Amino acid sequence: MPASARTAPTAAFLGSRAGVPADSTGSVPSPLYKVPDLEFDYGALEPHISGQLMELHHGKHHAAYVENANLAIARLAEARLKGDFTHLAEFERALAFNLSGHVLHSILWKNLTPKGGDRPDGALARAIDTSFGSFDTFRKQLTESASTIMGSGWAALAWDTAGERLITMQIHDHQSNLGFGCVPLMVIDAWEHAYYLQYQNQKAAFFEAVWQLWNWKDVSSRFTAARRVASPE
Ligand SMILES: [Fe+2]
Repeated sequence: MPASARTAPTAAFLGSRAGVPADSTGSVPSPLYKVPDLEFDYGALEPHISGQLMELHHGKHHAAYVENANLAIARLAEARLKGDFTHLAEFERALAFNLSGHVLHSILWKNLTPKGGDRPDGALARAIDTSFGSFDTFRKQLTESASTIMGSGWAALAWDTAGERLITMQIHDHQSNLGFGCVPLMVIDAWEHAYYLQYQNQKAAFFEAVWQLWNWKDVSSRFTAARRVASPE
């Protein structure tokens, strides 16, 4: 995490609305980012993901990305107010990193369910067959994408609006190595904080365990919505 994102904001910019001030024109940067509530208890994904790990991941790591995304927004507002863009690139880097972390974690929590696993059906299943050849090949490809990340990152199933097909993406950190025009549908968190407390260095076991938790109803819903997104071409 960039050191800038960990630095405490100035008191002047810790207002009543999560530190985001109105600027001289009266406009307030929005929306403000919030950690979403989970739709299940922290311990509901056991034994695949422990309650302690979920509490730490959602309550601490995700919360930090939200706090730092809001802080980056506040610092950009402060820069506009002062007319000083000396640190603009730094603030935009912090926003890209932390906002992307917030969005990916928000997708992840919806992607998981205690009653998950099995396989998708309907249009999503047909699209997986068309794009990857078979569900088993897709599963192997996405798991391999997660397993081979150097450093921190994510693997994602995404809808490519330009090619109108499903692809897998290996995301570096939270925001790099992306294909523009792609909509993430299903994500695997490959950061150490996602598994180390429970799985230590056995990350392959974690990447296999998540296949018992996929909420295909959520992934299918995202797939339906993504197909309505116009191609940028
Ligand atoms: Fe994470």
